[in-house]
Amino acid sequence: MPNYFALIPAAGSGSRMEQSLPKQYLSLHEKPMIFHSLNVLCQNQFISKVIVVLAPEDKHWFTYDWSEFNDKLLVFTCGGATRADSVRNGLLAAKQDNLVNTQDWILVHDAARPCLTASQLNKLLHELAGDETGGLLAVPVADTLKRADSENRVTATEPREHLWQAQTPQMFRYEILIQALQNTANKPITDDASAVELMGLSPKLIMSDTQNFKVTYPQDLALAELILQNRKTHD
Ligand code: CTP
Ligand code: MG
Repeated sequence: MPNYFALIPAAGSGSRMEQSLPKQYLSLHEKPMIFHSLNVLCQNQFISKVIVVLAPEDKHWFTYDWSEFNDKLLVFTCGGATRADSVRNGLLAAKQDNLVNTQDWILVHDAARPCLTASQLNKLLHELAGDETGGLLAVPVADTLKRADSENRVTATEPREHLWQAQTPQMFRYEILIQALQNTANKPITDDASAVELMGLSPKLIMSDTQNFKVTYPQDLALAELILQNRKTHD
């Protein structure tokens, strides 16, 4: 039986957030943002270990108390220049430590998606359990899509049929994911699935919802705060 591992790339600086503290440490619902992703992944009974990949120069992680996650949480300080580099370095470090086997499932999840729910995570695990390739949480595009020229004038309205927004976790077998990321080492890819697609494989889209959005801009923090607060009141 394959094991399940989560890997959280958390070596970014959060430049679009425009704050000096990297966004994964910004306070959200009384915790650093990354806590919420760690919490849902560490509490999942199918996931054996949760690996966090930090920037080698990260001085913030060790100022917080993570002891509640015990030995389910592993920290690697091998983050790279891009998200894909951080994921690839984390995967290679896990293999070097004999932690993972080639057929194990790896769930890559952004530190900046703190609103992932246990039920979305379980749906992903359940729907992809017997899959050959793997896949990702995603939502069908809801807005009308405009193509623009360099002056922001509309040149076309694009059909949104069959278009989805990719989220995380993205779940692939170790062997496929590492090969995909090695093949695309110098290509500007922004998620794991696109590297897998370039191998000619078709990851499966698993229906999620917009609450699992990526906190990117300053105004996103208030929305994430509201979502988490609202859940607490209704627990
Ligand atoms: N990430 C990473 N290593 C990098 C860049 C990003 O591990 N070199 C991680 C981020 O920490 C985040 C996830 O990848 O958890 C998604 O990336 P993004 O939302 O783009 O975060 P940042 O790159 O930090 O933000 P920005 O692009 O605004 O600078
Ligand atoms: Mg980025």
